[in-house]
Amino acid sequence: MYFSEDKVSEIIEKNDIVELISQYLNLTKKGKNHWGLCPFHTEKTPSFSVSLEKQLFYCFGCSVGGNVITFVQKIERLSYVEALYFLAKRAGIPIDERIDKNELEKIKAKEELYKINTEAAKFFYENIKKNANAMEYLSGRGLEQNIAKKFGIGYSIDSWDKLNRFLKSKGYSDDLIERTGLIVKKDKGYYDRFRNRIMFPIIDLKGNVIAFGGRVLDESKPKYLNSPETMIYSKSNSIYALNIVKEIRGLKNIIVVEGYMDVISLYQFGIKNVVASLGTAFTKQQARLLKRYANEIIIAYDSDVAGQSATLKGLSILQKEGCIVKVLTLPIGMDPDDFIRSKGVSAFNDLLNRSYSLIEYKIHNAKKNFDLSILDDRVKFSKKLAVILSKLESPIEIDVYIKKFTKELRINEEAIYAEVKKNKRKHISGNNRHNIISRLKKDENDLSGQIIAEKKILNICALYKDKSEYVFKRIKPDSFSKGLHEKIANIINLKIKEGKMISAGEILIHLEDEKEKEKASQVFNIDISKKDIELLDIYIDKIYQFSIGNKIEELTIAMNECFEREEKEKANKIFMEIMDLQKKKK
Ligand code: UTP
Ligand code: MN
Repeated sequence: MYFSEDKVSEIIEKNDIVELISQYLNLTKKGKNHWGLCPFHTEKTPSFSVSLEKQLFYCFGCSVGGNVITFVQKIERLSYVEALYFLAKRAGIPIDERIDKNELEKIKAKEELYKINTEAAKFFYENIKKNANAMEYLSGRGLEQNIAKKFGIGYSIDSWDKLNRFLKSKGYSDDLIERTGLIVKKDKGYYDRFRNRIMFPIIDLKGNVIAFGGRVLDESKPKYLNSPETMIYSKSNSIYALNIVKEIRGLKNIIVVEGYMDVISLYQFGIKNVVASLGTAFTKQQARLLKRYANEIIIAYDSDVAGQSATLKGLSILQKEGCIVKVLTLPIGMDPDDFIRSKGVSAFNDLLNRSYSLIEYKIHNAKKNFDLSILDDRVKFSKKLAVILSKLESPIEIDVYIKKFTKELRINEEAIYAEVKKNKRKHISGNNRHNIISRLKKDENDLSGQIIAEKKILNICALYKDKSEYVFKRIKPDSFSKGLHEKIANIINLKIKEGKMISAGEILIHLEDEKEKEKASQVFNIDISKKDIELLDIYIDKIYQFSIGNKIEELTIAMNECFEREEKEKANKIFMEIMDLQKKKK
């Protein structure tokens, strides 16, 4: 579904943020803002603020912020589009459901594919009860009937066309059935993809059966056969059992395992907050999906080499998406299913409580390669440890880990500190170092002043239309520093040209990714006083001066290049330009 910009603006305008958030928490007005206890982290004193005039919320405790849409997304755990629907409905805004014909046909076809998959799942489920081998397989793996039912486990008959014939008797065409991936076309006709396998339906968040995994009953290969990618199934966007986990109330964290049977087995033992990434490659989309339901993710992959490297990849993807990640390490050769069956729930809970943070996991992996009873290995491991720790920002954290290991390593604390320092310096050596230092100098001198001036101006523009017009008559959006500030300035400028005013909350609509929206809400987390408005000209001048400085720098580089190429005339022209700019500079 596509929402036009005007529609989104209307939705924001008609859902006042203070009124909306008041429905979820108690807000008290203090000064310009309304304050309450943040619903996104635990706190005892309110640091969650809502601004009526900006139409934004911001938590000074956990730095979460945004507009009404962001708030609804987070609190109701909805996607962007779902949140728009939610808010439109709440404000009684009619949504134009007209979509083009192609789109409509696609939606209809998808509905048909869901129906076919549902019929197939029922067929598999009915068949398993009639097949002694399959029932024996389940009981052989210790699976209880009610759990098998909960996950909709079934059986595909050992036949080339039983499923196809069943589905056709329900009125579906070969062509349509083929599009679910349940049958495959060959010269002689169609045959069933899944034969003589235990069937695991994969269900999406709306409850649609979107694909299947099928396991052999014996040792033959391939062990698991999966539905291909189809109109309704994209492997990288799906997470097995998230449809079950999302119903859990007060969900604190989610455990991610590799396989179907790991999820189901843990569930049977009462550990229900488990999903599977199905296969080893964890994707960004899967991370985003998980983050909608829990911030803390625990990876419990197999402890083989493939599992380990998948764990590291998964960790970094999840961390990039802003999740808190931990790793549960299993004994070699065991997966969660094997472990819980042989060692029991309390042993599994022990592992959960002892799960590693990313840095601990890296240290743990490094340590495995050394024998710490040998001096030489202790030295080597200490060096490795220092490299790992040097990536940490916080001195307190570094200190904790060094203290933890010095005893075992029988190496002087100070020596490890020195090694960590040496490694830290390496990160910023050579050219890189030169750049950083010169940038830092710039930062100290005027960048911070510059950034503050920009923030103030952007805030003033989002509050007062006349000031906004005034600002953009004097400076262009590209005078703002590159990146977010320039983008926001552009958005405001475009609106001003249309003769309209835009609130901070509405500005967020025009930013694409979540990180950017979050950063933008930080731009607007300052208050504007009368004094600031009096200082507007000074702020503008600050930006103007800064952009001249930048322009001069750019031109100087261009001029030098011309000299080197012996294009004297061009160089002279640029020189004159620079002189003109210098005159404008104070
Ligand atoms: P594993 O090989 O670890 O199997 O694959 P498993 O989950 O322990 O299976 P059981 O316990 O023997 O039944 C982990 C996951 O990788 C995918 C499946 O999703 C599986 O659950 N996989 C594995 C395949 O898609 N195809 C395969 O041939 C093997
Ligand atoms: Mn297994």
